[in-house]
Amino acid sequence: MIQPSTLTLPRYDISRDYAWNYEHAPEPVKVDVPPVGFVGVPALAGGVGVPPSGGVGAVASWTFCGLPVASPLGVAAGPLLNGRWVLYYASLGFDVLTYKTVRSGLRPCYPLPNLQPVTVGPMDGSEERVHVAGSMQGSWAVSFGMPSQEPGVWRADIERTRARLPRGKLLSVSVVGTIQEGWTIDDLAADYARCALWSVESGADCVEMNFSCPNVATCDGQLYQDAAGAALVAGRVRCEIGKQPLIVKIGRVASEEDARALLDALRPHVDALAMTNSIATFVVGPDGEKMFDGQRRGICGSATFQASVAQVAHFDRLQREHSAAARRLDLIGVGGASTAEHVRAYLAAGASAVHLATAVMVDPEVGLKIRRGLR
Ligand SMILES: Cc1cc2nc3c(=O)[nH]c(=O)nc-3n(C[C@H](O)[C@H](O)[C@H](O)COP(=O)(O)O)c2cc1C
Repeated sequence: MIQPSTLTLPRYDISRDYAWNYEHAPEPVKVDVPPVGFVGVPALAGGVGVPPSGGVGAVASWTFCGLPVASPLGVAAGPLLNGRWVLYYASLGFDVLTYKTVRSGLRPCYPLPNLQPVTVGPMDGSEERVHVAGSMQGSWAVSFGMPSQEPGVWRADIERTRARLPRGKLLSVSVVGTIQEGWTIDDLAADYARCALWSVESGADCVEMNFSCPNVATCDGQLYQDAAGAALVAGRVRCEIGKQPLIVKIGRVASEEDARALLDALRPHVDALAMTNSIATFVVGPDGEKMFDGQRRGICGSATFQASVAQVAHFDRLQREHSAAARRLDLIGVGGASTAEHVRAYLAAGASAVHLATAVMVDPEVGLKIRRGLR
């Protein structure tokens, strides 16, 4: 068994494009992966992460959308471009692996830079712009445009990957509908449903619908801001995939009214909400001009941590206000997590799982470090 600290683990190369990184996925590594037991979050309730007997040294029973899983740690949609990236991070201490968002047709990636480091403190959504940084300081602007391989390619890849993924690890596939000229919301819902069904047929344990992408201008990117549309799409997908666990990824919800409306709209149809999908703003380059053709880009990484934990706590509070009989959605904390303390903060805020994107790309060893910190 290799000791991770003696390794320089391979990672995504931000100086190269999506296609190069797609082809150059690392091989899984053989490392000692510490188990995650009771993580000492007093606010945890409902059996998630709590030892069955409550005794010291008891084995914690984590679940993800009702499925047993070895820890609350996962990789969010993004870093896992294909099955080889999934298997690599599965070997590095992550138990829920989210396959980067796929579509019903081929979609190229935006040009470089796809990942632009920026200088910014904690964000709250009011930022008009951020400035580029010479090197990574914890946050970057993400500009991929949700590229996708042809369905035949990703479906075969998911099937192969699920077959190779160790037992106890879950493969979640992120899907998005692709709006076409003249389409209605029903057409968009059918496209989401097609991708979701294909994912399940290929062996996905869960499906995550991306209802929020700050980097695409069309309504498929911001469906979470339209509660009625979100309910229609989620209902259609639920009909198509039956009881398979279904997650919705959302962005920043500014008002209490919007949060309530979204919860009420999605509660009948889905099992979990993953939040938050970055905070969008303009990015100013070294020449003082706006980058990315003057369009906003989602900022991911440490700048989003505080706002995302606050949003999880907000949704948790709203759910607790309902009667005990009301169906409760699992909350998946996403945004800026990179330490065991961050994981504890999300769990204490009401999340039952914590998924990372930026931190795993910057430091592939981060899952192992978090697990050691949680012991
Ligand atoms: C390289 C990269 C690609 C991403 N691609 C997707 C995507 O395809 N679908 C999606 O729902 N979110 C995508 N995201 C957003 C992440 O899932 C996550 O919401 C966001 O990065 C915040 O988490 P972090 O601060 O740990 O990076 C991407 C993020 C990164 C860094």
